[in-house]
Amino acid sequence: MAMLYGEPPAWESRSATSKGLIGVAAMNMFEFNKMLGAVLGAALLAMVVNEIGNALVHPLAPAKAAIMIGDGEEEAKEEASADTATTGKEADGPDLAALLAAADTAKGAKAAKRCKACHSFDKGGKHKIGPLLYGVVGRGKGAGTSYKYSAAMIDKGGDWSYGDLDAFLADPKGFIPGTKMVFKGIAKATDRANLIAYMRENHDAPPALPDN
Ligand code: HEC
Repeated sequence: MAMLYGEPPAWESRSATSKGLIGVAAMNMFEFNKMLGAVLGAALLAMVVNEIGNALVHPLAPAKAAIMIGDGEEEAKEEASADTATTGKEADGPDLAALLAAADTAKGAKAAKRCKACHSFDKGGKHKIGPLLYGVVGRGKGAGTSYKYSAAMIDKGGDWSYGDLDAFLADPKGFIPGTKMVFKGIAKATDRANLIAYMRENHDAPPALPDN
């Protein structure tokens, strides 16, 4: 009985041998569990912190780099020159003939919506604030029947050539100072070409496209 109750079991015995073998092993196990716990705990904490961080601050990359490196300057210059090309006074870039040859009349029809507040483009349409534009390409300036043009428009004279239409649409008041068309102009050369191509479609017999 003393063996069972009186004495500590062999593995709890304070004897040097059992402590040396089982005791050290048990201690190592405990230490290992503590370490594992610490590692898992740290990993969990890191995950939680990361999640909270993401929830608080949305990591969004800026759409445009704040600082452009290398070719950025090149691009910026190209953009700037594209902008000056929109004034309609540019010397280089595709010329009107090329733009008209490649023009998209469907896009022109869309662009014409902004004109339709003042103009009809339809065959048999009526004058509105501005004159009927059906058949305007190649027609004399200010020559629409029974519309009261400004003196400036009539004095300008000549026909609406493709080039004149382009210049007028780029900057109405610049091309005909004193015109009563209150419209600031269309900056982009391709937009104007599409629009002119659309006007060309709304015509019984439009003049041939320019070839240079
Ligand atoms: C705010 C009204 C208004 C808008 C918008 C407008 N125009 Fe005009 N347009 C006029 C008026 C008014 C005239 C007559 C100008 C004059 O007599 O000086 C005119 C004249 C013209 C003429 C000369 C017509 C002719 O018979 O000689 C053309 C071409 C023309 N517009 C094209 C356009 C196009 C294309 C657009 C759209 C991009 C446009 N206009 C937008 C009011 C407008």
